[in-house]
Amino acid sequence: MPDTTPDKTPEPAKGKVEDSTPTAGPRVDDEATERAEAVDTTPDTSVDISVPEVAALPKGKLLEVDDVTLRFGGVTALDGVSFHINTGEILGLIGPNGAGKTTCFNVMTGVYQPTSGGVKFMGEPLGKRKKFQITKLGIARTFQNIRLFHNMTALENVLVGADAHHSTGMGSALLRLPKHHAEESEGEDRAYELLKFMGLDKRANELARNLPYGDQRRLEIARALATNPKLLCLDEPAAGFNPAEKARLMELIQTIRDQGYTVLLIEHDMKLVMGVTDRIVVLEFGKKIAEGLPAEIQDNPAVIAAYLGVDEDAS
Ligand SMILES: Nc1ncnc2c1ncn2[C@@H]1O[C@H](COP(=O)(O)OP(=O)(O)O)[C@@H](O)[C@H]1O
Ligand SMILES: [Mg+2]
Repeated sequence: MPDTTPDKTPEPAKGKVEDSTPTAGPRVDDEATERAEAVDTTPDTSVDISVPEVAALPKGKLLEVDDVTLRFGGVTALDGVSFHINTGEILGLIGPNGAGKTTCFNVMTGVYQPTSGGVKFMGEPLGKRKKFQITKLGIARTFQNIRLFHNMTALENVLVGADAHHSTGMGSALLRLPKHHAEESEGEDRAYELLKFMGLDKRANELARNLPYGDQRRLEIARALATNPKLLCLDEPAAGFNPAEKARLMELIQTIRDQGYTVLLIEHDMKLVMGVTDRIVVLEFGKKIAEGLPAEIQDNPAVIAAYLGVDEDAS
């Protein structure tokens, strides 16, 4: 089974922070944007992207973060954090820059082992599972800084996601066994559907690096969906977007949930998640400072204090 981490970004060097660079990510060059602008990229949310095994998940706690602490040398990135995600909900994980949101994703997806505490998925401890094993279990993620295979087409990027889920591995792919062929064409149909849903089907054969920034962000989500995730984790998916683009993406995320997926949404902009999420967990300096319904979070004095003086666009 290949490691499907795109472009093999090396693990962060000691002391260097993963995914903590400014969120206004690099815009692609204007020429590429112009070239790509001619086609219609309106998402088609009428496309059925639901997966029976995902829709059939029992109600209740899908993932549990239990008293997780993670230290990097002297820095306590997560400090006794506990919360859970219910099947079928959109849970918002919010907090000022540096609060520990991305680190929390990294613990849930096998990038880091917690110093203490643990994560359970469908009642089972993740233990020392590796990233690809956790993908197979059904947790998919996108990155705060886009990580696509830049020299592959949009379609190929989504097919890589589908590969991570297939039962036949590299062995049968190399031997070209019949089962591999069947899975391949099935995978391609599904990849097209996901691209269509995201408004990217007309860009299927363009190289990822030539896509406008917003399309790249949606392509990352399409690729994550191609793994048939039981839990879809999005790390600041609207980073670098203008307010109208942000609002559109939030609506799109709701339509993904409506098709039976469970979503964990990281966002530092508190206002943005208010209308989208079912519940919200707030982190500050590695600690959970609040949890509740959006309306409760909005009026919570600790949350207001955490956000006071924080320029929401600065991070
Ligand atoms: N690999 C690492 N090495 C050292 N410190 C880290 C590492 N990853 C994260 N941190 C620290 O953990 C804290 C939380 O970071 P992060 O999870 O990226 O915050 P957020 O995503 O909420 O902005 C920060 O103080 C950051 O510097
Ligand atoms: Mg982050």
